[in-house]
Amino acid sequence: MTQASSTPAHPSQDELKTMVGRAALDYVVRGQWVGVGTGSTVNKFIDALADIRHDIPGAVSSSVASTERLRALGIEVRDANAVERLAVYIDGADEIDGHGYMIKGGGAALTREKIVAAQSECFVCIADASKRVPVLGQFALPVEVIPMASARIMRQFAALGGQAQLRMAGDKPVVTDNGQHLLDVRGLSITDPLGFEAQVSQWPGVVTVGVFAFQRAHICLLGTPEGVQTLRF
Ligand code: 5RP
Repeated sequence: MTQASSTPAHPSQDELKTMVGRAALDYVVRGQWVGVGTGSTVNKFIDALADIRHDIPGAVSSSVASTERLRALGIEVRDANAVERLAVYIDGADEIDGHGYMIKGGGAALTREKIVAAQSECFVCIADASKRVPVLGQFALPVEVIPMASARIMRQFAALGGQAQLRMAGDKPVVTDNGQHLLDVRGLSITDPLGFEAQVSQWPGVVTVGVFAFQRAHICLLGTPEGVQTLRF
């Protein structure tokens, strides 16, 4: 189940992210488009990807931020509609459990992340060891919503025992790349991620719930002080 590789003594969280970002290069299929997620760990992967940019046609990106970083490093980016199938999608997570189910969306990119993951054959999650949890729900669950539905959706989460808050940037709601708002829901223990994702995804006004169970990880490269562990689900 696990493999360890060499690692610096007492690596910082940033070094762990660098390690897994570079380790993910082994999963990029040369000659094929690669799906690229969003976040600080993925930024390490993008930086490493620049070293092999001549071996791939380019990337399908899950956010404006990742697109800008990829293009700045000379990596072509295409719209998801222009590439039918991706062999692999590389992305981070806010939490990952023992089945490869994840919470994602801390970086507000969950909708496009789920879209790109859905057209990929293999989801490789890259994360530092702090993201590994027994049960999803310690991290506040991100949910992208249509603004006019947010108050009702907050009440629906309250009925499940969760406390939902509108994500703010200063005195204004955060607006996603898709022009929508985000809720962060605390107090949930998500013991049935597939059932939870199926249920919440059906609530009118929910664009994307940040539980990735149907689009779970197949592999997780986990950065630990002992090295990169490879978890297969
Ligand atoms: C962005 C995400 C990220 O993958 C998640 O938030 C992890 O980010 P980081 O690598 O910065 O810890 O889901 O929407």
